[in-house]
Amino acid sequence: MTEPRPGRTCPVAYRYGAQALAAPAALQVDTLWVAGGLYGNLFALERLLELYRREPGRKALVFNGDFHWFDVNPGDFLRVNRSVLEHCAMRGNVETELASPAESAGCGCGYPDWVGDEDVARSNRIIERLRETARRVPGAAAQLAALSMHLAAQVGAERVGIVHGDAESLAGWGFSQEVLAGGQGARAAREACARAGVRLFASSHSCLPVLQLLDAGHAVINNGAAGMPNFAGTRFGLATRISVRRGAGALYGARVGGLWVEAVALEYDAAAWERSFLAQWPAGSDAHRSYYQRIAHGPRYAAKQALRLGEPVT
Ligand SMILES: [Fe+2]
Repeated sequence: MTEPRPGRTCPVAYRYGAQALAAPAALQVDTLWVAGGLYGNLFALERLLELYRREPGRKALVFNGDFHWFDVNPGDFLRVNRSVLEHCAMRGNVETELASPAESAGCGCGYPDWVGDEDVARSNRIIERLRETARRVPGAAAQLAALSMHLAAQVGAERVGIVHGDAESLAGWGFSQEVLAGGQGARAAREACARAGVRLFASSHSCLPVLQLLDAGHAVINNGAAGMPNFAGTRFGLATRISVRRGAGALYGARVGGLWVEAVALEYDAAAWERSFLAQWPAGSDAHRSYYQRIAHGPRYAAKQALRLGEPVT
């Protein structure tokens, strides 16, 4: 029998399957904002809410998981929790492991082989610390446990599947830019759209953004992180906007069926966020070692790598 490896394995309770997304839509709007991977960044949250408030018409904002992560300060944790739960929220692996830790799941990230062992060990220690914070916030665990892992939304005349990981599970990497870059990954995503009866999926979790057309009428958009930089040399987060109307000032986007699908930059106060991060995770701490470089300088990834409108997969 294979030994469970904390942070590497995907707990059985994380699995739902694309069929689960074929359920009736829980939201009916003209514009849907989706923000995954806020990671406890209150400054990105403030910017997101500011942009969302300006959006006219029938709308919804969905936090598709991992809104907590760096917010080990109980005051910050409480503010994130309160604010996010005023909107439509789903749980990611972080909230799931805070609410009801699965044995040997660690951080619940289900990290693939290309993520190093040291990073995985640090993530497992970060979740342990965050659990101590969550225990000090009365009622938080129960609130997070009650959140859904997936959601179907009706945007205009189209159905959209919203997940944290991929079509199969909460911490799946099937909608990561790495997996979608392969023909097999893109074909699986297209089949998942058919099984879920959706025009596209919006996801997060794998931490790098991608907007990929799967064929003329189907796509996956992964916002990477709302609360961390997503591209080299930048310091803004990203949110996803899906609407019957084209938005103003999207970083990139595509027309998918009757929808505009766009990545929107969250230009938060990066200096203030860095100070807040360092106060919670000083040099030498686990989160500093894993994330400071990205927070200060962005990952080795470019926007032109994220937008994939090329030949549909066959
Ligand atoms: Fe995640």
